Amino acid sequence: MLLNTPVKESKDISLEGAVQINHSSFFVYKDNNGKTFLKTGRDEKIHKSLVQKMIDLNPHIARLLKRYHIKPLIDTKTLRELTNGHMNDTCNIAIGVYSMLPVEIQSKLNKTILKEASMLHDLGKVLIPSKILNKPAKLNVKERKIMNIHSTLGYELLKTQNLSDDTLTLIRYHHQNLKHTGYPVLPKDNTFADLGVQIISIADKYSALREARVYRRRLTRTEALLILYREVREGKIMPSVYNALFKYAEMNDID
Ligand SMILES: [Fe+2]
Ligand SMILES: [Fe+2]
Repeated sequence: MLLNTPVKESKDISLEGAVQINHSSFFVYKDNNGKTFLKTGRDEKIHKSLVQKMIDLNPHIARLLKRYHIKPLIDTKTLRELTNGHMNDTCNIAIGVYSMLPVEIQSKLNKTILKEASMLHDLGKVLIPSKILNKPAKLNVKERKIMNIHSTLGYELLKTQNLSDDTLTLIRYHHQNLKHTGYPVLPKDNTFADLGVQIISIADKYSALREARVYRRRLTRTEALLILYREVREGKIMPSVYNALFKYAEMNDID
């Protein structure tokens, strides 16, 4: 659990901070009786306020947005959809992949960190303009550059929220691959954990391929697995991680 300084939101409820415990929440509140509870979904005002607080706590975010000419608007619809949809889905798949890995590989990774990072991996998308995020066609070069800073934005938003460095690293680099040709560019002395990134990245991609997009239909399980297999052949995905996804999908994902 990651608690931050409490913020009074109304006479009945105060926001304590961000948390990821189960598959459907990442905000924790306290009521007048001091009872702590989790809440999902619809309370956009409170969610928005927490993200605004994250922005205020880290001046680098404003500089980053200015550099890319992005207005600091929090898209609550995106936040709600991500929290209840894609980020939950990615978390479930990532944990499923983890559970199918051989024990000696599992032992190299902390499951709680994997869960936290996959649950929050795309939080930075709340600051990406919705006309780019929801564009019903391929992004142009400029739009792609803006879209690609979402992982950095997510990292910057969350780095003031008492998360471990390992969790933050996974969030920051969830679009990296084994060949290190993803984004953001890795520092020369990078020591980031490929395995965790690999699991979140494959879960993220599989989740996206299994969802319909404005410009394409939802892909079948086999189609999605075939697309990801190409990345194994290109040396971007570890075969062991792919095999674990394959097993997980065969057992849990019905076409
Ligand atoms: Fe992402
Ligand atoms: Fe994602």
